[in-house]
Amino acid sequence: MNSTSPHADVRIMGSADVSDEARIGRGSSVWHLAQVREGAVIGENSVVGRGAYIGTGVQMGAGCKVQNYALVYEPARLADGVFVGPAAVFTNDHFPRAVNPDLTAKSADDWEPVGVTCEQGASIGARAVCVAPVTIGAWAMVAAGATVVKDVPPHALVAGVPARRIGWVGRAGEKLAPAADGTDAWVCPTTGEWYIPDETSGGLQLASTPVADAPRPAPLDDPADHDEQDGPTA
Ligand SMILES: CC(C)(COP(=O)(O)OP(=O)(O)OC[C@H]1O[C@@H](n2cnc3c(N)ncnc32)[C@H](O)[C@@H]1OP(=O)(O)O)[C@@H](O)C(=O)NCCC(=O)NCCS
Repeated sequence: MNSTSPHADVRIMGSADVSDEARIGRGSSVWHLAQVREGAVIGENSVVGRGAYIGTGVQMGAGCKVQNYALVYEPARLADGVFVGPAAVFTNDHFPRAVNPDLTAKSADDWEPVGVTCEQGASIGARAVCVAPVTIGAWAMVAAGATVVKDVPPHALVAGVPARRIGWVGRAGEKLAPAADGTDAWVCPTTGEWYIPDETSGGLQLASTPVADAPRPAPLDDPADHDEQDGPTA
């Protein structure tokens, strides 16, 4: 793209359909056959994969990845660093109908769109469906094929139809293990980061910056340390 283009410093494949009224941040890429609708805003260094759809006015932060054939319908909002897996769908009509009761076609004024919100660092697995209105909390992870019908708290790992919490994940995407000190903290086996319950969100929050020599969690295959992980759903 040259400097007179509304999309300077952006890599847009020739077969992509990107509205001149979309704003795309520097360093971002839009791959073949993807569509980015008018009013959409995509932050810097983001990627929109082949055949993906970014709806009218959708807001995406920096460093997001929307994988091939994912459908992100408006009014979705993605914070920085959100991952949307291949063929994932964000719905926007809770009770969809093509027509009014008299069989006349529904226009944009005949229904109220509702959106999916993804907070910072959240990941949505392949072919997952997020049924709006719903919020995926920061650094949460939605398993492949899940159907999310209620809010997912920060750092929760949810799976299934309907999606239920099956564990917790840290910022690195690793499953967290219960802290060996007997508290209600959780520890990332890879980074050593500690996470503690956040009463406001019902999820976890980072308790410390990465500490190389932080105590490591008990082994995951010790059933005595598993009780809470298999506990109530999110
Ligand atoms: C959810 C996920 C992170 C779990 O990974 P994991 O911890 O290695 O999973 P495990 O294989 O140990 O399975 C743990 C349990 O969750 C279940 N499970 C795993 N993935 C699941 C899924 N996608 N949906 C439903 N249940 C799932 C397993 O059956 C197992 O259940 P069990 O304890 O009753 O036997 C992973 O399976 C997943 O879906 N990752 C997303 C992949 C993806 O979409 N990537 C996108 C880029 S291609």
